[in-house]
Formats: sequence, structure tokens, C-alpha cells
Amino acid sequence: MRLPTLVLQALVLQALAGLPAHAAPSRIDDLLARMTVEEKVGQLSLFAPVAAGALANPVTRQPSAEGQRDAIRAGRVTGLFNGVGREGKREAQTIAVKQSRLGIPLLFGADVIHGFRTVFPVPLAEAASWDPSLAERTARAAAIEATADGFRWTFAPMVDIARDARWGRTVEGAGEDVFLGARFAAARVRGFQGPDLARADAMLATPKHFAAYGAASGGLDYNTVDISERTLREVYLPPFRAALDAGALSVMSAFNEISGVPANANPWLLGSVLRGEWGFGGFVVSDYTADEELIAHGVAADAREATRLSFLAGSDISMQSGLYNEHLPDLVADGEVPMARLDDAVRRVLAVKEKLGLFDDPMRGLDGTAPADWPEHRALAREAARRAIVLLRNEGDLLPLPRQGRRIALIGPFAEGPHDLHGPWTLFPGPRPPVSLAEGLRAALADSSSLTVTAGSGVDRPVRNGLRDAMAAARNADVVLLAIGEGEAMSGEARSRTDISLPAAQQALAEAVASTGKPVIVLLRNGRAMALTGAVREARAIAVTWFLGSETGHAVADVLFGDAAPSGRLPVSFPQASGQVPFHYDHKPTGRPVPESAPDAFYKARYLDVSHEPLYAFGHGLGYGRIRYDAVALSHQRLPWNGVLEVTATLTNTGPRAMDEVVQLYVRDPVASVTRPVRQLKGFERVHVLPGATVQVTFRLQRADLGFIGADGTDTVEPGAFDVWVAPSATGGLKARFLLEGPTLHNVGKR
Ligand code: GLC
Repeated sequence: MRLPTLVLQALVLQALAGLPAHAAPSRIDDLLARMTVEEKVGQLSLFAPVAAGALANPVTRQPSAEGQRDAIRAGRVTGLFNGVGREGKREAQTIAVKQSRLGIPLLFGADVIHGFRTVFPVPLAEAASWDPSLAERTARAAAIEATADGFRWTFAPMVDIARDARWGRTVEGAGEDVFLGARFAAARVRGFQGPDLARADAMLATPKHFAAYGAASGGLDYNTVDISERTLREVYLPPFRAALDAGALSVMSAFNEISGVPANANPWLLGSVLRGEWGFGGFVVSDYTADEELIAHGVAADAREATRLSFLAGSDISMQSGLYNEHLPDLVADGEVPMARLDDAVRRVLAVKEKLGLFDDPMRGLDGTAPADWPEHRALAREAARRAIVLLRNEGDLLPLPRQGRRIALIGPFAEGPHDLHGPWTLFPGPRPPVSLAEGLRAALADSSSLTVTAGSGVDRPVRNGLRDAMAAARNADVVLLAIGEGEAMSGEARSRTDISLPAAQQALAEAVASTGKPVIVLLRNGRAMALTGAVREARAIAVTWFLGSETGHAVADVLFGDAAPSGRLPVSFPQASGQVPFHYDHKPTGRPVPESAPDAFYKARYLDVSHEPLYAFGHGLGYGRIRYDAVALSHQRLPWNGVLEVTATLTNTGPRAMDEVVQLYVRDPVASVTRPVRQLKGFERVHVLPGATVQVTFRLQRADLGFIGADGTDTVEPGAFDVWVAPSATGGLKARFLLEGPTLHNVGKR
């Protein structure tokens, strides 16, 4: 009996793939065997829905919604992203599954960055909680909401380390530190994907932007990245590795070049590192037209060349450009792209769709209706927002305020109104408006008539009689809440700024209000570290409130009136001046460090006009208690090569109220074969300390925590002295020293 051709082909394929001959051809093998080259390429082509007004891209030959429906019917689309509503998803999926030749389901993706219908604090704000489990919970809630609306793939978490506050996308990540960033990256992947990708509420996570997008020169978005392989491996890659170790099955390539080779056409990055060293088995999706941008980068003469370079480097799915549909079939036909490489990419994509259960239930999440409001998630949003608030300064314990008996003036462009509360990358907010500061305060006050509200200025321009009205309000109040900072449009993609201080109109407002002599509490709204100057810098109290999302007003009121104590800690250093950036605490000492005993010493690594210290350090944040670090004790003065060192901190709350303290562990290798940072975060622990109580916190260190990339480019650990601090931030704290015994080891552990 002659076996049908298809089964014969499948058996041959299995033999080639080394599968046991008796194994029945998998669904994917069977599909691959039946797919035309065009259908294979179609599984590697992702588009925004034209019907939603997305940029109709002439190359996609989908200048119209009907054209896109035809492309889906022809199997030339693997998924749609962002602007497609439930009806649109249902229609598109029905065409893909019932009208295309092979019925391969579409994968619907979206930028679900910090919430969906319920908007959580922006990722940088969540990082200020120093609680990765909180970020896991909000990512899970976002996934539940988004999958209920038919999206099964999020283009998140953004895990780019950001050390230059001029860069607008700082807002989307977890800040400047590798240790903190890696933990938030993994937590967000776990949150989005959940325990099992086959579950209806599982969302495929996509750590992005691979790699080193945050290292753009000058903090200018999309700009050149030129860094050493050591910096790439020690700073920018670890959060991606952590995200993949947490199970992420897609990665998004970055727009930028890395030292001359654009990430989307970088075989070393996408091949040797991602697949070779890390064994990544998922797929790579390009960022939006990143393949087509190789022409602008000047490494591809035309779209066909850009297609070839991108695909052969390891970029599996092309987002939005349509280049793969246009040119991959020819490249395969001409032998410039081996069919086996095409099959590998398609297999990876189909395998993920299968893991998501799309083949078994393609209409899942698309039938019926999805809730537009999730009350239980609003409570989580309020909790997350409270925990994101960082109290930088609180002179004379001005905060918390009494709920009554005080006349309060709420002044500033962010005092009232539903604007600038969500922050950038909020594409799907629900119909219930976010809670403004004024609304939250009125709800919290015993007598809301004790609150007066006036804008005083616009976000970046004065308003008529604004200063006059603001000063009058301040004079008639006992305390001023000054709601100033950045508008949503000042942070996010393509929003780099040369000057990270306040817009002049708002600075003028702050100075005018300060001139009344009334105590001022600054409520900063921001998506990045900012340079605070003049009356803002000198205010009695300063709280960093970022973009806090749906429950902004209630969360701020909870903290202002003491229902919740501030517990956030800075995930980014606040420099004194814009000119200091890029600024990060884990900098190298240089050959001329400024002596602590002589901060004005000349011929040292410092500016003439500003000391090279932060205004507020990475990790800094106050509560309503007062923590005294009493002692640090080491279990060993000499740590055996295979030993574990315990570092125990003893601290006391000498303040009047309980507080959550984030005890931080920093390490320095003062002498090594390459220069090492002056400090590096190696641990943190949140403890709740009652007034008058003394607590102990113990950290464990072993040699794997002390490694670095050696001069020979390998993972290295060297014996010798190490300094360790237990501290409330990246400056200060209690210091101790231990000795790591043993031989120098290279190539320690797997990369
Ligand atoms: C954007 C961003 C990326 C986003 C993608 C899809 O340009 O760089 O973060 O996920 O396009 O919207």
C-alpha cells in the first residue's frame, strides 16, 4: 500500500529531525509539510489592523481593511496587534480559521505595559515599590483583563536598563539597576504568562527591547548604542536572561544598533547569545518596522537586503513593515534563505500558538462580551499606587497631615482633571475615569470645603492670573500641596528631553507659592528622574508620585493622611542637575575619585558647578518612622571558596510610627583584574518595623554573587577583600569587609 505523499513527507521530515519514525506527525509537522512558502512567510508577518486606522503600509499591500482581510484569508498574516477590538478580532479570527486554506489561527498582540482596562502605576513607579511580587500581581491582573478581550500576547515587560534620565522610555522599565531590574523582569513574565500558557488567561510575554536600547547615546531615543561587550553582558543582558529563565517565549528586538550592528540584524546577539549561549527556544519579533529601518541605518541597500539580513540574523517575525511577505519567498526561491531556516522560524511560531491553545480553541476570549470594569483590580491599583510613592523629604515631619482642621491649597497643573494620570503606553483604559488628586483629597477629607484647588500654571506655559490665584490660595491655606512635574506627553517613546528639570512655567509657580512662606508639599508627577531646583528642591516635603494610574488620587490621599505610610524607594538616582546624566550609582571609581574628606578637592573627577553626587540616591525613600542602622555582623571574616557568608543588619525604628524599611545590601570589589563599580546592589529585604522595635535582617552571599566579566571576556571570580554595606540607599549605611579565599576561576558557571 502506497503511503499518501503527505504522510511520507512527514515521515521523512521526522527522520531528518531525528524523531522516532513511529511518532505520528505532529500537527506542526503536518502543517509545515502542507504549507506553501507564501503561507510559511505569512506566519512570520504581523500587522496592526488597517481597519483601526493603523498606518496602512503600502509594502504590506494592505492599503485597506478589505485588503487586510484578503491577506488573512490567503494566510499572509500571523496576527494583528493593538488597535483591533473584540469584533475586529472575532471577524479576523473567523476568516483565518474558517476561510483560509490551512485554518491557522491568528495571535492577537498588544502593548499591555501597565494594565489594560484598569491602569496600574507605570512600570518605573512599580519598581519603586521594590516588591517584584507586586509587579507580578499587577501583570497577572492585566493579563486577565486583556485575555478576556482576546489578546493573548503582550509586548512587555520592557526590561531595558536606563541610566540616562533624558531618555523618555525610562518610564517603561525598572530603572538603573541590574539586580532590581532582573527581578522585576522575571516577576512580570510570571505575572503575564501565569502558571500555564495553555490557560485562557495566559498572555505570552515579550521582554524587550533586545538589546541595550536604554544605552542610546545622549539619552536620545533610537540613537546609536556603542558599548563594550562587558557592559552589554554585565548591565543590559541580565534582565533579558532573567525574563527568559522565567519562561518568556518571545523576545522583541531593538531599533538601535549595538557598536555598528543593528540589533534586528545582529546574528551574534540573536543567534550566538540568544540561541547559542542561552538556548532560547521561542521566537524573536522585530520592533515596529525595525527590519525596514536597516536601510536608514545604512546596512541594507534596499528592502530585499533588509529582509535577508533580518531573517538570517534570527528575527523570526516582521512587525508591520510587510517586508517578509514581499521578499522572503523570492529569497527562498533564489536560495539566499534556506528553506530549513524558514521552517525553523515557522515551527517556533506555530509551537507558541499551539502552547497558547490557539489551535484547540481559536475563538477563546472572543465570544460574548468582556467586562469593561474590574472593581477588584481597582483595589490592587490603589495598593500598587500607594506602594510606588517615594517620600524624598519630610522636614519637621510635616507629613502625614491631619484629616481635618487644616486649610489645604492644592495647586498645580496636575491638581485636578482626568488628564496625565495614566502615564504613557495606556492604550486600553476602561470607561471609568481615573481618580484625580482633587477627587482623592475631597473623598479623604472630613470637610472637603477645607480644600481649595487652582492650577496656577499650565504644564509648560503660564495661565492667565495663574500665579496671582495660586498665591492667594496659598495665603488662605495652612499648607500647600504643589502638584507639578511632567505631563504624559513628556515621557515615553520618542520623548527624550535635554533638560530634566521642571518646565519654566511650573518652576515660576513653585517660586511664587514658596514666596508666601506657607509650608509646601511637592507632589511630583514624573516618568523619569528629574533635576529638582530652587523652591521645589527646598520644599518642606517632596513625594515622587510618578504616573500612578486609575487610583492616583485615592492612593496619594491615603499616604498624605497616613492611612498608608510611604514605603517606596527610588529605582533611579535623582541627580542635582541635567548635566550630570547619564547618572547611576554603580559607577566606576576612576583614577581620581573625589575624596569624601575633601569634596572640593581639585584635579578630581567632579564638575566645577555641581558636586557629582545625586540629590537623592538610588534606593532612597522615607517613611513615617525613623530607622537607625545599629550594626552589621558577618558570619565569616574569611569566606571559604565554596562557603556562604551571612550578613546580618540590626536596625531600630526610633520614630513615632511603624514603617516598612527596604534594607539594601551592596558589595564592592575594591581590587580586581578589571575596574569594578563603587557599589553594586546584591540584595534587598523589606521589613516592617514597629515604633521602638529593633529587628534583624540577614542576607546570604556566596562567590557566585561576586563575579564579573574578566579582561578575557569570561565570567570570573577572584579571591580577595570585598566591602559590603547594609544601607537605606546606595549612599551611606554600615560597612564591613570580608575576604574571599581561593583560586581565581574563569568561565565559572553557564552564561
Ligand atoms: C513601538 C515600541 C515597542 C512596541 C511596538 C508595538 O515602536 O518600540 O515597544 O511594543 O512599537 O507597538
